Amino acid sequence: MLQKDYKNQRSGLLDTRLGLFIHWGLYSINAWHEQEQYRNCLDRSEYTPLMNQFNPVNFNPEEWIDLAKNAGMQYLCFTVKHCDGFCMWDTAQTDYKITNTPYGEDILAKLAGTCARKNFPFCIYYSVPDMNCKYYPNRGRSYELPAPEDGDEPDVGEYVNFVKKQITELCTNYGKIHRFWWDVNKLSLNHHDESVNEQIRKLQPGIVINDRGFSEGDFSTPEREFAHNSKQAFGMYEYPTEACESIGHESWGYRRNEDYYSFGYITKSIDKHLVKGAKYLLNIGPKPDGTFPAEAIDILKKLGKWSRSTKEAFDKTECVSYLTDNQELLLTRKDNTIYVHVLNANRSGIILNPIDILPQKATILNNGKVLEAAVEFMPSLHDRKKSFLHIWNIPVDELSNEAIILKLEFDSLAKIRGTVK
Ligand code: GLC
Repeated sequence: MLQKDYKNQRSGLLDTRLGLFIHWGLYSINAWHEQEQYRNCLDRSEYTPLMNQFNPVNFNPEEWIDLAKNAGMQYLCFTVKHCDGFCMWDTAQTDYKITNTPYGEDILAKLAGTCARKNFPFCIYYSVPDMNCKYYPNRGRSYELPAPEDGDEPDVGEYVNFVKKQITELCTNYGKIHRFWWDVNKLSLNHHDESVNEQIRKLQPGIVINDRGFSEGDFSTPEREFAHNSKQAFGMYEYPTEACESIGHESWGYRRNEDYYSFGYITKSIDKHLVKGAKYLLNIGPKPDGTFPAEAIDILKKLGKWSRSTKEAFDKTECVSYLTDNQELLLTRKDNTIYVHVLNANRSGIILNPIDILPQKATILNNGKVLEAAVEFMPSLHDRKKSFLHIWNIPVDELSNEAIILKLEFDSLAKIRGTVK
């Protein structure tokens, strides 16, 4: 059962909020999509020869982690195997692996080792669908071949054994694994088996497992989900949650003609999920030579500035969006400070009705600017016949491409409805 201990989202085991998701494999070569084999309907003879070209000579895990750390990220989750079945480690269960490419070295060992040395928690993504393993029962469901190929021996039991052998390698030979991130059992195999997660937990005590595997897991994984103006945005997540999103709209793997999200979209998406107590994985698809695309580096650099200046609005705060009826705003709180997350900044002022006390100080975290605030009778809320806290002169055009967060420091919040519980 997923546990309703959302408070642990902030204070929990890893005490982390923002992580780097990496989708990397043979699919980076054609730079189209990480599910190239599935979405482009390629049989094995058409796709697998890519392994003879894979040679990421510029792969430098130190650089990856430094970029992530400078962006304010605190952990990394890496695709050791996507649905094409290609393994980024030196597995003994198949020849379809990184050590049989021109590159020849165990990428996972290098990356996990560097994470350990740099004290950067390491997590593993593993796809349940596997278009290369002869035991996987391909039937044309999501992320599968349309049918088994010649020589295949489809058998769910044998496939689960194969997965368990791979898990044993992954959870034994690569140091501490903080999280195990299954993908899409439900969309394809839909096979329930408690023993798989049990085995992971035995090999990696304390590991946290997501909800896309063979049994329920510990946290939920909303993906590409961002609606900044909905009521649903108000409360804390009921369950431990790690949201994920890629920096580009079309693909999670490297894509040459990618449609990159604006920095505003990315920061608003991160903000919305962190306010609600989730963790957040932002994904990048490295290029076939092992480096990050220039666009990704640019986003990470900007993110560093944004996350450093807004950090305090998430650290050890609680979500108190219910304090205002203004559905365009999300609120977090620490002691007598309220942080206002303005995700829909289409004008230079906000009304925090029904709050009607004045903060000692109002600042914009993004740039440190001090703002004007008053408790006043507002024309747009004339029918309420009351004055409310109004803050204006927010430079929304200047900050139009990032989530804006205001810091309101009050003497006391005792007079605000519902603050003292
Ligand atoms: C989507 C993509 C899949 C990717 C996953 C990451 O489900 O289809 O390829 O690995 O997102 O969450």
